Amino acid sequence: PQPRRFQVKLPLPPVLNPVRSDATTDYYQIEMQKNQVEILPGLTTEIWAYNSITPGPTIKQRRDRQSVVRFINNVGTPTSVHLHGMASLPQYDGYAEDLIPPGYYKNYIYPNNRAATMWYHDHAIHDTARNVYMGLAGMYIVQDDLELGLPLPKGEYDVPLVIQDKLFTNNGSFIFDHDNHQGLMGDVILVNGAPYPRMEVANRKYRFRVLNASNSRSYRLALSTGDDLIVIGTDGGLMSAPVRTKDLRIGMGERYELIVDFSKYSIGTQILLQNLGLPNNKDYDGTRQILRFDVVRQETDNSSIPSQLRSFQPLVASSAVATRRWTFEHRNDRWEINGNGWDKNRVDARIGLGNTEIWEIITNGRDWFHPVHFHLFDFQILERSSQPPLPYERGWKDVVYLGEDNNIRIIARFGPHNGKYMMHCHNTVHEDHDMMTQFEVGSGGA
Ligand code: C2O
Ligand code: CU
Repeated sequence: PQPRRFQVKLPLPPVLNPVRSDATTDYYQIEMQKNQVEILPGLTTEIWAYNSITPGPTIKQRRDRQSVVRFINNVGTPTSVHLHGMASLPQYDGYAEDLIPPGYYKNYIYPNNRAATMWYHDHAIHDTARNVYMGLAGMYIVQDDLELGLPLPKGEYDVPLVIQDKLFTNNGSFIFDHDNHQGLMGDVILVNGAPYPRMEVANRKYRFRVLNASNSRSYRLALSTGDDLIVIGTDGGLMSAPVRTKDLRIGMGERYELIVDFSKYSIGTQILLQNLGLPNNKDYDGTRQILRFDVVRQETDNSSIPSQLRSFQPLVASSAVATRRWTFEHRNDRWEINGNGWDKNRVDARIGLGNTEIWEIITNGRDWFHPVHFHLFDFQILERSSQPPLPYERGWKDVVYLGEDNNIRIIARFGPHNGKYMMHCHNTVHEDHDMMTQFEVGSGGA
């Protein structure tokens, strides 16, 4: 069923308080459990929740303080929790085979050594798509002194937007089809868990931390006024300088931070955040609309957008000691990387700690796109199909949009830890069937 649009106010996931803190560390606790909530008016939906809500509570942390998060599994199925964007040690990275059995908990330790917008989500082997779709996803924001010292919009003007698409039965349950290995295209768009919400804004600048937490849908975001989105951050945190764009492509797992300036609109103006659409997504009546901003009040705006944000060192291709090639394709009735599916006993690349390498990521064919994600390291995009990366992709990334027939070159320095880490397509349905493999940094590990 299609709900009426722009009826509900945009919910904001609550910020989680630590259960205790000491000189170096904040200790948090999150319980995974099932819950019944009202998403579509008058209907009840079962969700799989972190602390009874989806998205889960936001963890906000300072760089260089450590977090220990106890995830308690009372959701009735094995889970694994990955903090996407964090360079965690392998045993805390949410390795897909490192499952928390129902009734058990695990303490995950996070170093918070980079300021960026991250997210935690389930990563259970072959069940990631279902578990994330049922609700196991939340935001995790790390901030540092440099970022907090900039005059960017802060506090209530710094707003997370978690975008997901869902399919519902007529009685309100989420539909998830285990036998569909292509992808999941919902016909209702949720932002922060609410269908097509509206957000009341003042006529000033806002900072939005946008996360595409959908299983399989990518979006091309644009304002209905045709005004610019001002991109200030990518997966790996603030860019070196703001980038203006009319539309912004965001694949699954990607994060972009945007400034939207509502100052030129008069009170009463309504502005839609639209989805202009992308190839190999399935459109429904409502999937071109996401959220409505209603300008409802006058306010003075003390924030500004500095022309320099965070310094950025480009990695130079000549510093690379090796080049590797990764082919993502559909073969033998499954999604493969270099002709293989997942095998926890196989490692596809061994890389010296601290080495710089160039990785070529290739897909042949026009039938699908694959947002490719690597754990552990951030990278820079050198080129896509002989073109430079899009202007707003010229920052640190941990997901790259591998579009139809794309041939991408990225460069990275491998670290900061030794260990075995996963890489996969972030269409979680592809990931589960079987577009995931692993690499190993350093000589430690198996
Ligand atoms: Cu966001 Cu391996 O995942
Ligand atoms: Cu894919």
